[in-house]
Amino acid sequence: MGRSLRVAVKYIQQVKSALPRNGYPSQKAFATEIGLSLSTVKNFLSGKPVDYINFVEISEKLGLEWQEIADKEPEAQENNNHIGQDSPFVTGSPITHPRHFFGRQKELKRLFNLLKRHPLQNAAIIGQRRIGKTSLLHYLKNITATPIEELRPQQKYDWLTNPEIYRWVFVDFQDPRMSSKERFLSHILETLRMNIPEPCDLDNFMDVMSDNLHNPTVILLDEIGVGLQRYPELDDEFWESLRSLATNHTGGNLAFILATHESPIELAHHTRHSSPFFNIFGYTATLRPLKEEEARELIASSPIPFTDDNVEWIIGQSQGIPLLLQILCRECLFHLEDGDTDDWREEGLRQIEPFNHLLLR
Ligand SMILES: Nc1ncnc2c1ncn2[C@@H]1O[C@H](COP(=O)(O)OP(=O)(O)OP(=O)(O)O)[C@@H](O)[C@H]1O
Ligand SMILES: [Mg+2]
Repeated sequence: MGRSLRVAVKYIQQVKSALPRNGYPSQKAFATEIGLSLSTVKNFLSGKPVDYINFVEISEKLGLEWQEIADKEPEAQENNNHIGQDSPFVTGSPITHPRHFFGRQKELKRLFNLLKRHPLQNAAIIGQRRIGKTSLLHYLKNITATPIEELRPQQKYDWLTNPEIYRWVFVDFQDPRMSSKERFLSHILETLRMNIPEPCDLDNFMDVMSDNLHNPTVILLDEIGVGLQRYPELDDEFWESLRSLATNHTGGNLAFILATHESPIELAHHTRHSSPFFNIFGYTATLRPLKEEEARELIASSPIPFTDDNVEWIIGQSQGIPLLLQILCRECLFHLEDGDTDDWREEGLRQIEPFNHLLLR
């Protein structure tokens, strides 16, 4: 296994801007200063693998935390590269790379509109299980920081005018560490590269955030229902502080976007929380199946084109539910690649059976 590291895609913009910020007029000037070859510096800045020692040295010189900016999934990425062909069909885990994300254009337009004007405004994403809530949160966070060459041809990316000034924090409440107030607060500060106070309690957290938050910042809260239902430490005082942070203490620079399968206000009622925090979610995007043309775009992304007959069959069977589309496309592609003569549709139906409850009947 090579001892090399690469800058994670989402940090590339930030890393590039670190050069002028640290007073280096050019990549060459920086390479000379640090005593490394220009190609190593270029590789580092464009997210290509560089030797571990050089990675740490360059990061330190630019005032960047190497552990934070390093790609945490080098194995997976390398595997992808080795496969040599890029199957767009991701089934099961949320979509993290924008290239694999389809549709939701109307919701994205509304959401980015709330984020591109001052003050930033909060939004809730609601949708049944498996409909694509987590994937949408990842897309929001990653799309504007992904190099264009990694996107599909014609895929929209220019949602924000100054994407590089935005900061994004992703919180997954299914992660049991988020049950602790202190872990939650320090996760936010750490991601925003702010000092973590001692103790990291609500008061100190509020102070650090209100003193240091000068860039537009979006905190994405996935599976907020779990936070409300299962984590007693996250009490009403905690939620109210978050509300007050967004509304009063950060000069309109902070927004929350949460994802849940029921309306946030109802969720607060069910879980016997007082609801002021949940009243700040003025816009709600309800995720439904993909529109037909969006579903067709997903199907058309297959590296081997499907016959019209198969396309219609996939559209009909999946009813535009993204997970079912992905599974059926995966099966159809497998059949084409493998050249096997078995009835792939039968296998496709077997594969989507566990998810049939997602279909509107
Ligand atoms: N916009 C999309 N484009 C393509 N595929 C998608 C999209 N959204 C969701 N999917 C597909 O649906 C699957 C489930 O997506 P995701 O995990 O984001 O849903 P979820 O609503 O967060 O689910 P859960 O309620 O279980 O948390 C993904 O693995 C992927 O196959
Ligand atoms: Mg999810």
